[in-house]
Amino acid sequence: MQIDVFTLFPPWFDWFRGQRHVVNAFAHGHRLDCVDYRASTPLKAGQVDDTPFGGGAGMVLRVDVVEAALRARYDEDPVGLRQRRRVIALSPEGRVLDDELVEELAAEPALTLLCGRYEGFDERITENFCTEKLSIGRYVVAGGELPAMVVCDAVLRRLPGALGHEASAVEESFSRALDGEPEYPHYTRPAVWRGWRVPDVLLSGHHERIRQWRAAESRRRGTGAPGPA
Ligand SMILES: C[S@@+](CC[C@H](N)C(=O)[O-])C[C@H]1O[C@@H](n2cnc3c(N)ncnc32)[C@H](O)[C@@H]1O
Repeated sequence: MQIDVFTLFPPWFDWFRGQRHVVNAFAHGHRLDCVDYRASTPLKAGQVDDTPFGGGAGMVLRVDVVEAALRARYDEDPVGLRQRRRVIALSPEGRVLDDELVEELAAEPALTLLCGRYEGFDERITENFCTEKLSIGRYVVAGGELPAMVVCDAVLRRLPGALGHEASAVEESFSRALDGEPEYPHYTRPAVWRGWRVPDVLLSGHHERIRQWRAAESRRRGTGAPGPA
């Protein structure tokens, strides 16, 4: 997979690139490139934003600046680009990221993520260049960089080779393997700590009973009912 992140702050992603599962994904041929809106802005002195028509606080990312950045990267009219790859604007009011969407995105050969800043995007950007808007939740953070990293993290760890243990990504919270429910509780040594005991079934070595217990716990967590005493 090729992921392109358009941002005003490419260095934010330096740390992310060094994380083990991301390094593993790169080793398997996947790529994450950052494109700086300022590098191709047609405006003077690296300007990328402007005051909102109609007044109000903050600055808005300009449509001509984003068009120039997309053209510089893909060498085509960005209106047509979205016919052949998903161009996603990070936006608080977009479709909220969940396991289903992560799976969908992980199946794509390429993704383009547009990070907003300040007041966000000129609406003509999302209307004409993007396939969709994606939110990491119903709250607002300062820019699209952390949301983009959340998307990249969730997607890259789904790709073969990213995790040391492939099974880790199969039976996970909200996965199909768990019927969309949260994952069951985990325990490790010591088996007793300050009188807090690991459930006996997990020490029994009885695989079928353990499987049934985990499935039941996963369902229980899905209902929000209290956990094992
Ligand atoms: C300060 S926010 C703009 C918020 C906007 N004025 C509003 O009220 O919806 C700047 C940028 O951060 C990103 N952002 C903030 N919160 C987000 C969220 N929950 N999900 C995805 N992106 C988000 C978007 O790219 C957004 O354009």
